[in-house]
Amino acid sequence: MDVYEAVASRHAVRAFLDRPVEPEVLSRVLTAAAHAPSGGNLQPWHIYVLSGDPLSRLKERIAARVAAGDRGDALEVPLYPDPMGTPYRERLSDFGKRRYGSLGIAQDDLAARARVRAGNWNCFGASTALFCYLDRNMPPPQWGDAGMYLQTVMLLLRSEGLDSCPQIAWAEYHRTIAEVIEPPQERVLYCGMSIGYADPEPPAPRMPRAPLSDTVTFLR
Ligand SMILES: Cc1cc2nc3c(=O)[nH]c(=O)nc-3n(C[C@H](O)[C@H](O)[C@H](O)COP(=O)(O)O)c2cc1C
Repeated sequence: MDVYEAVASRHAVRAFLDRPVEPEVLSRVLTAAAHAPSGGNLQPWHIYVLSGDPLSRLKERIAARVAAGDRGDALEVPLYPDPMGTPYRERLSDFGKRRYGSLGIAQDDLAARARVRAGNWNCFGASTALFCYLDRNMPPPQWGDAGMYLQTVMLLLRSEGLDSCPQIAWAEYHRTIAEVIEPPQERVLYCGMSIGYADPEPPAPRMPRAPLSDTVTFLR
């Protein structure tokens, strides 16, 4: 698959088929993804891949917390800037309108939004999930490295006919994830990623991008 094609066909998939991902495919993807660049070649990411019983236990434990009305753990890393200024506030609001509007959910129907959002903790039906941790003392450049690594994983998954959804939502239940994964104390969860074969059935809106001139400045 051409790189442009991989980039264009990757999007956040939120409905997966009940079909396992072959372990050898995952090994191939993660071996190749290790070629992602990192400042000083630190390779600061720590990746845990869950499927089978460990992932089922994780899904069950979080589902029980959500069902009990538990709103999650205190965040270790803020998910967004607070306050969020222009143009990010408008882009986030547009995302919400498209994502929930496509499901017929009104903007102010917070209960329905929460129900849909809970799909995150079922991996949207995917049978495999990846969790990316960093050492707690890593400054922003290494978080950028981890982002490049994760995008490399997502593009390679496309070339294997697989799809993914990166998920910061997992950070809201990071203690439960740590109970299952048992990472060393000094590691902090960045995000998770559901991986699997996309269910082509449910219609999903494509998220638009800002015009090039809003995000790129050419000085000539
Ligand atoms: C670091 C990161 C965290 C994300 N967290 C979530 C999440 O928790 N749940 C979710 O459904 N989508 C999540 N997304 C997907 C974004 O909403 C999505 O990438 C964005 O709206 C653009 O849409 P597209 O990826 O389909 O092009 C995340 C994306 C990134 C890069």
